[in-house]
Amino acid sequence: MELEGRTAIITGASRGIGRSIAELFAAEGASVALVSRSADSLEEVAGGIRAAGGAAHVIAADVTVPDAAERIVAETTAAFSSVDVLVNNAGGNSFMAPISDLRPSGWHKAIALNLDSAVQLIQAALPALTASGHGSIVNVSSVTALRAAPLLGAYGAAKAALVSATQTLAVELGTQPVRVNALVPGWIATDLTEFLRHGDGLEESVLSRVPMGRWGRPEEIAQAALFLAGDRSSFMTGQSLVVDGGLSTNP
Ligand SMILES: NC(=O)c1ccc[n+]([C@@H]2O[C@H](COP(=O)([O-])OP(=O)(O)OC[C@H]3O[C@@H](n4cnc5c(N)ncnc54)[C@H](OP(=O)(O)O)[C@@H]3O)[C@@H](O)[C@H]2O)c1
Repeated sequence: MELEGRTAIITGASRGIGRSIAELFAAEGASVALVSRSADSLEEVAGGIRAAGGAAHVIAADVTVPDAAERIVAETTAAFSSVDVLVNNAGGNSFMAPISDLRPSGWHKAIALNLDSAVQLIQAALPALTASGHGSIVNVSSVTALRAAPLLGAYGAAKAALVSATQTLAVELGTQPVRVNALVPGWIATDLTEFLRHGDGLEESVLSRVPMGRWGRPEEIAQAALFLAGDRSSFMTGQSLVVDGGLSTNP
């Protein structure tokens, strides 16, 4: 039980990668605070965790709304008394456009969801994470942070900035007992990428660039998140762990 006695906040826990992380962390002994906008979906995830003997608390919140971060941390502390792990996983992208055509509102929407919300939660949770004595922050970035992201420019910029903020924070935190790392997934089969599995030849085109030739599974990202969240990565901070079937090694 790698997270026995620890409390973890996981944003975007209603489905996809966040749900897998929540279920794995709970199975490894963590009390999990599940965050997303949809209470019903979160209750379903929490029900499964409780049925398996775990502890879960549901927090319906839009992470882009002012004061959401303070409420999430306050509710988690009230439910479980501590915060040891923060997984900033809520994110995504709802439009595709070249940067030349992006409206300011579209740019800001992507930055607010994929960057600002993570920074706000980190700021709100840092006192509790420090008090825990073994705080760990996992920021879910993307391979779009590592190179050009055509038609996903704002999303890629937000995810790249998240990697940069991860590195800076690691240095600024210095010897404080809070580590911060980025998790960098490649193409993972979730609702977010569903549209790529139905277009004419789209899926073949996506997978042709992945050396392992297949979609990643949310569970495979959850295993990497567990490694970063717990003590097995105790000498890692400011790093990016890439889990992408080899995609980022392709020229
Ligand atoms: N799938 C991939 O190929 C891939 C690759 C690289 C990186 N990532 C990153 O991995 C993370 C998870 O992606 P995914 O594929 O699991 O996506 P997903 O299946 O679309 O799930 C996204 C999760 O985020 C929540 N969410 C979205 N907007 C929110 C908001 N404003 N406030 C609170 N919660 C919000 C959603 O719940 P509600 O709708 O209920 O709010 C849902 O639980 C994202 O940060 C994504 O950018 C994904």
